[in-house]
Amino acid sequence: MNQSMSTITAMGTYVPDRILSNADLEKLVDTSDEWIVQRTGMRERRIAADNQFVSDLATKAVEDMMRRYNVNIEDVDMILVATSTPEYSFPSTASRVQANLKIPHTGVLDLNAACAGFTYGLQLADSLVTSGMYHKVLVIGAETLSKITDYTDRTTCVLFGDGAGAFLVERAAGKGDFMAAISGTSGEGGIHLYKTGLSSEMNGVPLEGEGCLVQNGREIYKWAVRTIPEQLSGLIAKAEMKPDQIDWFVPHSANLRMIEAVCERGPIPLERTLTSVEYRGNTSAASIPLALQLAVDEGKLKEGQSIALFGFGGGLTYAGLVLRWSVPDTQ
Ligand code: ACO
Repeated sequence: MNQSMSTITAMGTYVPDRILSNADLEKLVDTSDEWIVQRTGMRERRIAADNQFVSDLATKAVEDMMRRYNVNIEDVDMILVATSTPEYSFPSTASRVQANLKIPHTGVLDLNAACAGFTYGLQLADSLVTSGMYHKVLVIGAETLSKITDYTDRTTCVLFGDGAGAFLVERAAGKGDFMAAISGTSGEGGIHLYKTGLSSEMNGVPLEGEGCLVQNGREIYKWAVRTIPEQLSGLIAKAEMKPDQIDWFVPHSANLRMIEAVCERGPIPLERTLTSVEYRGNTSAASIPLALQLAVDEGKLKEGQSIALFGFGGGLTYAGLVLRWSVPDTQ
């Protein structure tokens, strides 16, 4: 296999039509628009229809990509789907996407890295392409978090939304886009963010919230604010760049207040940060592509700019990347 470079050639996204506003949440639980905006920066989230599942959202994101960029996906070698909300334990979500899009000769694989799933997926796609193993990899981050959210629990239900984003990673003719990558894990902290599966305990502690997302928001906040600034600095140094050479920092859109705290302690200020948090909520593996799409649509993110993506969440785990943005501007 020959060593090659990889590039992102196209992007697409999808969010469901139904909007869940802070005013709607005020009718469901004892909360207020003021509390939600002040603690999270969120105003709205999108919610999938009852009969809409994560592979439907993922498929629509790829269809959006094909509409915007007129790319051929018939020769995709591998579909990677990052999701925490698959409609089945198996078959994989990626295999449902293959069936929907009728891609003839492709491998399929789901990634379980919660909110860090999309950046892990990009790292894997880059390594599959640069190793010479494959030519074209579809990376999708897709979630229907509304389906695992307890809408009687005010501490979680205000946070989450649904959506999907897709990138096409291909072998590059010239220089590649991927400049540096890091990842890391604090597995003992897994107890702070989970959804129950076959076991009802972790670290000997009984688990709560059967079938719904459970979090210890304070612990997640502390871990993220302690971990990300230092790791982001390390990532930028690994790319042999200075922070002021990074045009945009794109963290997982967990919560705007948490991102503000990360920026206060980290190498890149909030003004150079892209998020999807205000009108999409926390969409886990979909939040980074949704933020990039919004930035492209607003004319902020431009071809040739350098960006640092940083996914983090359940695990507790994180994965970061420095990229040169070379997706053609279709605006
Ligand atoms: N509306 C009104 N009051 C609320 C709400 C709500 N929606 N939720 C909690 N409260 C109350 C609590 O009951 C508590 O009341 P009490 O003092 O009378 O007991 C008070 O507000 C403070 O509660 P805390 O949970 O301590 O609130 P905190 O200031 O920590 O904010 C938050 C909560 C926003 C979740 C914060 O911890 C946070 O940002 N954590 C990060 C977690 C996160 O983003 N998780 C997303 C998933 S993880 C990921 O994506 C990486």
